[in-house]
Amino acid sequence: MRAPAHAGQPSVPPRPPGYTPWGHGSREHRSANGEHAGNGVDHGTSAGIGAEYVRRLADEALHPYPKGLLIATKGGLVRTGPNQWHPIGRPKYLRQEVEMSLRRLKLERIDLYQLHRIDPEVPLEASLGELKAIQQEGKIRHIGLSEVNVEDIQRARRVVDVVTVQNRYNLADRAHEAVLTYCEKEGLGFIPWFPLATGGLARPGSVLDEVARRNNAKPAQIALAWLLARSPVMLPIPGTSSVTHLEENLAAAELQLSQDELSALNKQVATG
Ligand SMILES: NC(=O)c1ccc[n+]([C@@H]2O[C@H](COP(=O)([O-])OP(=O)(O)OC[C@H]3O[C@@H](n4cnc5c(N)ncnc54)[C@H](OP(=O)(O)O)[C@@H]3O)[C@@H](O)[C@H]2O)c1
Repeated sequence: MRAPAHAGQPSVPPRPPGYTPWGHGSREHRSANGEHAGNGVDHGTSAGIGAEYVRRLADEALHPYPKGLLIATKGGLVRTGPNQWHPIGRPKYLRQEVEMSLRRLKLERIDLYQLHRIDPEVPLEASLGELKAIQQEGKIRHIGLSEVNVEDIQRARRVVDVVTVQNRYNLADRAHEAVLTYCEKEGLGFIPWFPLATGGLARPGSVLDEVARRNNAKPAQIALAWLLARSPVMLPIPGTSSVTHLEENLAAAELQLSQDELSALNKQVATG
């Protein structure tokens, strides 16, 4: 694994692709999860959505946790049904989410707790103020944000130390360039969600094919290598239910694309 370019700033998590138990429950998915921890991946992430199940899965696959594994999770966004998402940033609710995560993950402290969404009905200062109080109690080590703009981050940093930002970002969707630039400048980790465009960038038949062939690699690996080359603060979290894909995704960290290849990808893949 490559050392993080921001080494020396212990507050930023390490950069290799991390695991996400996001809605799959197969034996292979659990196996992929366990393999992950056994293969030097040190950033596991579990989402806080419909989340009892997800956290149980993480515990089942990974516990007892290997030394050095960084566990990240999120709170403040609930899913009540297909495509039904609700931000809930009320302090008492966030506290309950943290307590439930601690119990389910069998942890005394969560390494990275991310506010999944800003609740428009709750002042950001109130949501983050509660997370700060929980941090001071020793139950959270670091605090991150998700789906935010630069102004949100600046406002949040007046309340807490923000170490990471998790926004949707991949080769085909670079709407959050300004946030990425800000994270680079300020030394914050940037965690791109949907790093493979939910698999769209992994399928053969795209413009990634040619670069993949030349590097004896798979399109998904090219998409991840592009992300890692894009910024030293990038921490991709590709989701997979397959051990084979997991291994491919890990190997992507070793791929070095040439400047020409990176420029060709930048030009050829349509961005949104
Ligand atoms: N912060 C937020 O608001 C937010 C919102 C949504 C998602 N997320 C996070 O984003 C992360 C990723 O989300 P995601 O899993 O939905 O999207 P993704 O990582 O962009 O894509 C996952 C898809 O790619 C496929 N895939 C993975 N590796 C592959 C490979 N090497 N070759 C071929 N196909 C491959 C997977 O299929 P297989 O299972 O067959 O490998 C799966 O269908 C999760 O950690 C999730 O928590 C965050």
